[in-house]
Amino acid sequence: MPKSLISIQDFSKDEILHILEVAKEFEADREQSFLAGKVVACLFFEPSTRTRLSFEAAVNRLGARVIGFPDNRNTSQTKGETLEDTIKIVSNYVDMIVMRHPQAGAADIAASVASVPVINAGDGANQHPTQTLLDLYAIQKTQGKLNGLTVNMVGDLKYGRAVHSLVEALRWFDPHFIFTSPEELNMPKKYLEILDREGVDYRQTDRIEDGLNICDVLYMTRVQQERFPDMDEYNKVKDVYRLSASMLGSVKPNMKIMHPLPRVNEIATDIDDTPYAYYFQQAGGGMYVRMAIISYLLGYR
Ligand code: CP
Repeated sequence: MPKSLISIQDFSKDEILHILEVAKEFEADREQSFLAGKVVACLFFEPSTRTRLSFEAAVNRLGARVIGFPDNRNTSQTKGETLEDTIKIVSNYVDMIVMRHPQAGAADIAASVASVPVINAGDGANQHPTQTLLDLYAIQKTQGKLNGLTVNMVGDLKYGRAVHSLVEALRWFDPHFIFTSPEELNMPKKYLEILDREGVDYRQTDRIEDGLNICDVLYMTRVQQERFPDMDEYNKVKDVYRLSASMLGSVKPNMKIMHPLPRVNEIATDIDDTPYAYYFQQAGGGMYVRMAIISYLLGYR
């Protein structure tokens, strides 16, 4: 079975550092063409702006070509074809599959039947490993290191796949975590148990003020409306944290605000022009990181 990236745990610490290094090289020179002749399928069963377009841009910049779809409404899944059959068929046509799917575990299923590498571009509330790699790239770039940082994750820690993958990756870098969420959206036990087992320092709070002035990275997240089984529950927590520029008076000078995006109302636009905002640059680095991931999994870099 070819090597895939389904969970961030599929990469060792050394592999993660390698990807960040290669991404840096691609950022310095993004005109590459060593994948000419390759074809990559981008299969998006769930909406996306950044992930899909940065993957497609990455494939193009590497000289390969893209096929795929931005939603599955015009595919034979509407006639009842299974995910497994779809992936077996697409495997015949391409050298790699990038897939986003609303169901947790779908990427794992795809990799189990694919004859080419599969990259998980987000599976339900489970994992978003390529987001994590671009988050690490942004953290390393802004902080000059990955080790020993205080990272405050704020918002929907229950359904946010980006924070799940990021916690699993950062645990290798001696972090101090602050998990800021209302009780209904706490970080799932499964991830806290990993941190407990490995002796990683963390604390939980529901007050954004508690961790604001002591963190190096403030990782804001959107409350994930699409994952709530009950809209009344969503309405109770949807506006729980709203960060605005007036709240940043005592933050550390090196502090950067990150967000996987899209944002709804959890970061006011008056923050965008402050030196603390880094979410747009963070997303921009995603293309180079995805170029590095594709190259690595195809055996080139
Ligand atoms: N961060 C992220 O996954 O964004 P998209 O949903 O726009 O791809």
